[in-house]
Amino acid sequence: MSRVPTLEDLGDVSGKRVLVRTDFNVPMTGPDDARTIVDDFRIRATLPTIEWLTSRGAQVVCASHLGRPKGIFVEKYSMKPVRARLATLAPGVELLENLRFNAGEEGNSPEFVASLIRGIDLYVNDAFGAAHRSHASIVGPARTLPSAAGRLLEREVEVLGNLREKPKRPFVVVLGGAKVSDKIGVIESFLQIADSLIIGGGMCFTFLAALGYPVGDSLCELDQIATCRRLMDLGKPIYLPEDIIGLDAKGRYATFGQRLPQGAKGLDIGPGSAAAFSDLILDARTVFWNGPMGMFEDDRFAAGTRTVAEAMAATKAFTVVGGGDSAAALAQFKLADEVDYVSTGGGASLELLELGDLPGLAALRGAPNVH
Ligand code: 3PG
Ligand code: MG
Repeated sequence: MSRVPTLEDLGDVSGKRVLVRTDFNVPMTGPDDARTIVDDFRIRATLPTIEWLTSRGAQVVCASHLGRPKGIFVEKYSMKPVRARLATLAPGVELLENLRFNAGEEGNSPEFVASLIRGIDLYVNDAFGAAHRSHASIVGPARTLPSAAGRLLEREVEVLGNLREKPKRPFVVVLGGAKVSDKIGVIESFLQIADSLIIGGGMCFTFLAALGYPVGDSLCELDQIATCRRLMDLGKPIYLPEDIIGLDAKGRYATFGQRLPQGAKGLDIGPGSAAAFSDLILDARTVFWNGPMGMFEDDRFAAGTRTVAEAMAATKAFTVVGGGDSAAALAQFKLADEVDYVSTGGGASLELLELGDLPGLAALRGAPNVH
């Protein structure tokens, strides 16, 4: 397999116009016509690449998606607030309007690729969080332009690749979040590369149901119960919560064991499970965490996620947190600086760990400047 080209493979960038695909899909809040950025982590994460290029005399044109506007203009997904933030962080750098305002982006249309690279000399992909999407701006430009991975993409691939290929053991994986069906592939692959798997969050109820426990009104994917059963029979330890916190049938805060009565809804792992999961994290030498343990946005159901986040901060293990909600949880608990690596990708980090490759990386390997 040829290698993924890096910035050095672009040759002299001075005076060149460089299209940089970034993932500026940042959390926002506020009214549709006056959105403000909640966390600019993904913007700051791309600055080393932008500065590498501009300090060598390149003219940088950034392009990103924001949200899922489905091929039409949607005011709340306008890049305006991001453009304003970028102007303060990297003055003089252009930012195109939301790529997903054009259906050609997700449709990977050749015409849209052609319009993106008009007047452009070089292409850089630094959008790790979107590198698992076969969209026009991710897979198109490298077909014709000399191309490279930016510093962020390069680092993400290095850290997650090492995790996949040579983790220090024990290697513990902590998974949460709502849906099992999204994560079946990655769970199977973790059962090969990790020593044990901890499962919390909404997805734990499908596993508890597979053990024969009633789950009340908790999230549960009925069509995935048999798959969960099969995964638990593969022989690797899968740890599930033994106590659950949630709401009873009358909507009152309540603590349960592994059985949830009719009408009850599990919304966080209980303190016993959180302590047990912490111990596993503290004893590990490598930990990868993706997905919150409960509905941490609500203070009543944040304790499980907080305890896991604190264990991630306290352990001597090499700790990696994969994107999205778990990164937001770490930030909320002010622990983001206490782990070894926070990936900017959620889905992308899981797919890279599962498959060892991404469409965006394959595209770069096929670029005309790679021999
Ligand atoms: C993300 O936030 O996960 C990335 O920006 C990808 O966004 P998407 O899931 O809408 O493709
Ligand atoms: Mg540590």
